[in-house]
Amino acid sequence: MSGLIPKNFIDELVTRADIVEIIGRRVQLKRQGREFAGLCPFHQEKTPSFTVSPQKQFFHCFGCGTHGTVIGFMMRYEHLEFVEAIERLAAEMGLEVPRDGTPVNPHTEIFEVLARAQRYYTEALTHSAEAKAYLTHRGIGADASANYGIGYAPGDGDALAKALCQTPVSPATALAAGLLSRNSRGYYDRFRQRLMLPIRDTRGRTVGFGGRALGDAQPKYLNSPETPVFHKGRLLYGLYEVRQRNQRLTHIVVVEGYLDVIALAEAGYGEVVATLGTSITERQVEQLFRAGADEVIYCFDGDSAGKRAAWRALEQTLPLLTPGRSVRFAFLPPGEDPDSLVRRQGLAAFAATIDSAQPGSEYLLANLHPDRLAGAEERARFAGALRPLLARIHDDIYREMLTAEAAERVGLSVERMMRLMQAERAPTRAKPASPHVARPPRCDPTIKRAIALLIAAPAEIAANPPQVDLSSLTLAGSEILRQLLETLEHNPHLNTAGLLERWRTHPDASFLGRIPYEYRDSIWQLAQEGQESRLAEEFRHTLFHLASEAVIGAEYERLENTLRSGRELGPEERQRLRQLQIRMAKQKTRE
Ligand code: UTP
Ligand code: MN
Repeated sequence: MSGLIPKNFIDELVTRADIVEIIGRRVQLKRQGREFAGLCPFHQEKTPSFTVSPQKQFFHCFGCGTHGTVIGFMMRYEHLEFVEAIERLAAEMGLEVPRDGTPVNPHTEIFEVLARAQRYYTEALTHSAEAKAYLTHRGIGADASANYGIGYAPGDGDALAKALCQTPVSPATALAAGLLSRNSRGYYDRFRQRLMLPIRDTRGRTVGFGGRALGDAQPKYLNSPETPVFHKGRLLYGLYEVRQRNQRLTHIVVVEGYLDVIALAEAGYGEVVATLGTSITERQVEQLFRAGADEVIYCFDGDSAGKRAAWRALEQTLPLLTPGRSVRFAFLPPGEDPDSLVRRQGLAAFAATIDSAQPGSEYLLANLHPDRLAGAEERARFAGALRPLLARIHDDIYREMLTAEAAERVGLSVERMMRLMQAERAPTRAKPASPHVARPPRCDPTIKRAIALLIAAPAEIAANPPQVDLSSLTLAGSEILRQLLETLEHNPHLNTAGLLERWRTHPDASFLGRIPYEYRDSIWQLAQEGQESRLAEEFRHTLFHLASEAVIGAEYERLENTLRSGRELGPEERQRLRQLQIRMAKQKTRE
């Protein structure tokens, strides 16, 4: 059974796994000095810029910037979740994954009652002529019905509550799972007289339900409430089923309705998911790409609500686009949804709509009205609207490609467009970039360099750690450095990969992950040449320097406080304070 995978097993796996061998089974690698290189599997290229370092147990592509440990590689390449990747790696290395005694999931009981409820609903469907007639009326056959686990919630009001009573499930758990509600008279069923569509997580566990009224009852759809395992912004209806059917996906279509997904599957179009009645989030888009699709196609209503949804979807997708991942937009004829289109005109009509979907960059630019750029003011408006969108894109190469496309579209040189995009301030009242844009944490350059050194030569640094006190250091980024040092102190065996793996779920993980790339020509180069001891030496110097900064910072604070408390400073103290003030000011401008 499942339990937490102990941290030190993950450390060991990352440290011991032969990354060259594991990646080498999937990508053809050639030795190149102390490293190996090959064609990057994560973007299209003709000359190899994908490198694997056996010393660091780390891979990095200089073309698309993808990087990570052997676990990260497995997740991306094989489209696995974290735990799945660990299991697969362990299996390839002939290791058994140990589990801590504690259950992984404090929600075991909730999952169990949801599974019971699903069995109950599918069983109830077989006894309901009305529900079966409704399925027939909607054109849903036995296969699709079974694949999607469709069931029926009877109209009695407490049918499920009663059925659960005969099992060891406590009503409180069923309440927590969102299956029952409670009033002064007791527990009763949340879902009554509805077609029940189980919503599954990526592992296929039912985490909630969408319930479709059989007739005109309101609301048309009733969903599970948010529960410890059901989060609308993180789940996608049908994703588990898509992955079950299809190991190698090329694209995934996102539609608006549950029954659109089912109707399309029924018609033979299986690469479809839907959100749960909310607009799509970046986290959901990430799951689609992670599942292996290189292309996400949004297929929405052609009405104004559909257009708004499409634009929001674009905003959530931009951060994730790279030269190898694309997005397109398809709009349906007014009044149609995929279900009605397929039923009336056949699957070919839907497939044609998808085939002719508009590429994301075209859709984006068209919405900024590049045709109305007569004067300087119009051009400024265009630039002002484009800039925050470009700022959302994380991938440098994709951002540059889009900038170039925009330039061509409006008839400016690429250089001119780049300058427009970098202009200090837009002369228009353009909306500011959404606060949503992930920005790297502010980090003092000295601290950042120290972090880079630490990541590049952890073993050498752990062997002879500088004995300094950084606790009063306040420069931006100090906390990350302190935490890294602490991790290394407790786990001196960690290599680069092991260290970064520990930060996987940390908000600063991608900041850290990019550091090897940022310092590729300096620190990383030296590390690859085997000059780790030089790096460790520089690290020690840097830390002594930072520690003295910390002491000076404390001195400055003491003098300031003295002054504020009203005591006179002596002439020497005053001069010292002035020196320190200048120093601090310089430091501020450096940050
Ligand atoms: P639609 O109203 O377009 O429904 O809602 P549909 O998928 O075409 O369903 P049918 O064909 O009428 O049965 C689209 C999605 O919005 C959410 C559901 O996720 C639905 O699939 N929705 C809609 C709700 O959550 N509640 C509602 O009352 C209506
Ligand atoms: Mn519909």
